[in-house]
Amino acid sequence: MLEIKNVHKTFNKGTINEKKALNGVELHLNPGDFVTIIGGNGAGKSTSLNMIAGVYPIDQGTIILDGKDISDWPEYKRASLIGRVFQDPMMGTAANMSIEENLAMAHRRGKSRGLGWGVNKKERALFKERLKMLDLGLEDRTTTKVGLLSGGQRQAITLLMATLQKPSILLLDEHTAALDPKTAKKVLDLTEKIIAKDNLTAMMVTHNMKDAIHIGNRLIMMHEGRIIYDVAGEEKKQLTVDDLLHKFELVSGEEFANDRMMLS
Ligand SMILES: Nc1ncnc2c1ncn2[C@@H]1O[C@H](COP(=O)(O)OP(=O)(O)OP(=O)(O)O)[C@@H](O)[C@H]1O
Ligand SMILES: [Mg+2]
Repeated sequence: MLEIKNVHKTFNKGTINEKKALNGVELHLNPGDFVTIIGGNGAGKSTSLNMIAGVYPIDQGTIILDGKDISDWPEYKRASLIGRVFQDPMMGTAANMSIEENLAMAHRRGKSRGLGWGVNKKERALFKERLKMLDLGLEDRTTTKVGLLSGGQRQAITLLMATLQKPSILLLDEHTAALDPKTAKKVLDLTEKIIAKDNLTAMMVTHNMKDAIHIGNRLIMMHEGRIIYDVAGEEKKQLTVDDLLHKFELVSGEEFANDRMMLS
C-alpha cells in the first residue's frame, strides 16, 4: 500500500541552519494498517507525513503509494490519493463557505465536472448521511458557514472531507492536539470509526502515549529522522507507557523528550 525506501531530507543545506530531518526512513504499510507515530520534538514525524503528501521534494529515496512511484509527483497530484488532517482546526476547511459547500469541494476533488457551487440533491443526501455519523447535529445545519463552528466541529468536518472519497492513505498530524479533552476524545472516536468503516490505511502522529498504544494496529517510534521501533498486533496492545519510554532510552541512548507528550 505504502512503501517508503531510504528517504532523506535535509532543510537549509549548506547554511548554518542545516538540519537533517529525515535520515533514511524505511517503512512498508499493508492495506488497512492504522499506524500511530510517536517521538520526541523534531524527530521527523511531521516531515515524514509532509514527504508523503509532497509538501517538499525529498533529497533521496523512493515513495510508492498504491503501486505508483509518487516520489516526483507534485503535491496537487498526490492530493487525489491522500487525505490529510492537520493540528490546526482552521486549516482544513474554508471558513466563509457553508458545511455543504466544503463537503462538495472535497467530494468533487480530482473530478472536472461541476465547478459551480450548487450542491445537488444526491450530494446533499450523501453529506447528510455522513454528517449524521458525527453525532454533532450538523446534518441539520448544512448551510451554516464553517467559520461559525467550534474547533472540534471543524476538525470533524475536515475528517469527513479527507475521507469522502476513499483515500489510498489518510495522514493525521496531531489532529486532536488543539482541542479540549472532551472534544478531542470525540474526534478521536470518530477517527477510529471512519477508518474502521472504510478499512482505510492511516498514519496518525499523536503526543498521547496511551492513544498511541490503544489506537490502531501498529505503532512506530521516530528519533533523529529514523524509525527506531516498529511494533504491531498483540505485542503493541500489551505495551505500557513505561515500556515505550524504556524502549526509547534503550534504542536512542537518550531520555525521551517531548514537551507536549502526555505520558498518562
Ligand atoms: N520547513 C522546514 N524548514 C526548516 N527546518 C524544518 C522544516 N520543517 C521541519 N524542520 C526541522 O526538521 C526537524 C524535524 O521536524 P518535524 O516537524 O518533522 O518534527 P516532529 O517530529 O514533527 O516534532 P514535533 O513533535 O515538535 O511536532 C526539526 O529539527 C525541524 O526544526
Ligand atoms: Mg510535528
